[in-house]
Amino acid sequence: MTASTLQKPALPIVRTVVELRRAVGAWQSAGERVALVPTMGALHRGHLALVERGRALCPRVVTSLFVNPIQFGPNEDFSRYPRDEGRDAALLASVGCDLLYAPGVAEMYPERFATTVTAGPIAERQCGPFRPGHFAGVATVVSKLLLQSRADVALFGEKDFQQLQVIRRVASDLDIPVAIEGVPTVRESDGLALSSRNVYLTPEQRAVAPALYRILTEMARRIEAGEAVPAVTAAGLEALRTAGFTAIDYLDVADAESLRPLERLDRPGRILAAAWLGKTRLIDNIAVVPRR
Ligand code: PAJ
Repeated sequence: MTASTLQKPALPIVRTVVELRRAVGAWQSAGERVALVPTMGALHRGHLALVERGRALCPRVVTSLFVNPIQFGPNEDFSRYPRDEGRDAALLASVGCDLLYAPGVAEMYPERFATTVTAGPIAERQCGPFRPGHFAGVATVVSKLLLQSRADVALFGEKDFQQLQVIRRVASDLDIPVAIEGVPTVRESDGLALSSRNVYLTPEQRAVAPALYRILTEMARRIEAGEAVPAVTAAGLEALRTAGFTAIDYLDVADAESLRPLERLDRPGRILAAAWLGKTRLIDNIAVVPRR
């Protein structure tokens, strides 16, 4: 066997809807189901876990890489969002991704593009008021990616739990023929959820960051043990401030599906938070489950 036959072939990359549909259609005609993993690149083990889960569900996995301008607010990090397509492609090849779809902005939003998908009340809670237009931008691009690819399954991380529930709502409401799969959050050993934005943290902020998950975990434990939601929420807010978070956008105990406030743990819940360390905004969430 020569060295070249041992080398993994480079990951094929397509940049147009026509090429994407040709590849996906060929697999589906051969009876192979196709999974789609939408990303904005700057990949880490969290993204790769989605690809691996996609592989477990389908013989073919397509990853999309598109830093979606319409989901960033005017003061957010669109222009400085970390971009390295070569590195991302190599990582995807190493976990057995079959195809990278990396369209340009003009392919996604041609001149005269005008349609927006909005998801209603579920997008107006938690992150909604702090990031006006964000979920409409996400819902619009994800609807397009699902319809462009015609994938059978699409995978999203629980790390962005509200996003996952928004996407479930949109796919269901618009009858998009795809199964939406949520994948558990991948964390550092100290509990910090992996995020492409963690690179913005200074060493001092990085040391504070794991407190977010620690505090959510403690809140879930106390609520599951029967303590009252308002008291535990107040204690959680206080703990976040004491830990060193400079601002807290929200700390909510919510119904796991609708994300409406949950006063008592009488059905599956989710604790969701967004808090700032300097100029970096961290989000995280955890399940809170009624005792049987
Ligand atoms: P991005 O932030 O690149 O995330 C892509 C996918 O990876 C999302 O489904 C996200 O929830 C998941 N993910 C990120 N960190 C994770 C972690 N630590 N563990 C598990 N999954 C994780 O989310 C987006 O891009 C965009 O909004 C997108 C859906 C691509 C639409 O533009």
